[in-house]
Amino acid sequence: MTQVSGASDVPSMGRRQFMNLLTFGSVTGVALGALYPVVNYFIPPSSGGSGGGVSAKDALGNDVVLSKFLADHNVGDRTLVQGLKGDPTYLVVESTEAISDYGINAVCTHLGCVVPWNASENKFKCPCHGSQYDATGKVVRGPAPLSLALAHVSVNDDKVFLSPWTETDFRTGDNPWWA
Ligand code: FES
Repeated sequence: MTQVSGASDVPSMGRRQFMNLLTFGSVTGVALGALYPVVNYFIPPSSGGSGGGVSAKDALGNDVVLSKFLADHNVGDRTLVQGLKGDPTYLVVESTEAISDYGINAVCTHLGCVVPWNASENKFKCPCHGSQYDATGKVVRGPAPLSLALAHVSVNDDKVFLSPWTETDFRTGDNPWWA
């Protein structure tokens, strides 16, 4: 996929909460280690203006600023931010100057655990029932039935925005199951 490194026409933010993360943690009863990022990302609602996208928020609820994000992360990193509908979403560092133009929704398509990134194995591995996804979020091992959802990533005025992905899933060539 291409990369996002500069300003573009980007929608503004929405008003979202992160309650679903708490729900996932309660329902799944995952191990403490797996719960930590959930707690970490349980942050107050954000608000914004009109438009079709939302500003990505970091663990503290602040807007993700691309220049700082790139300075703080290594190439290949997949880092959770708060995305569409409050869903935890991975941003992918493509190079020292750019992130991917797609974000990967971290919610497992099996029963909704937040799936951690395993850098040493270059895949996402769900701690709940063992589902695995490749580096783009494409499912490679069940019981998860579907790949992780995608979101569009764009940058405006050095801020990172997420908007719905309604086009073909580039990993499978199929229509997006989440749209
Ligand atoms: Fe991820 Fe079951 S919730 S494998």
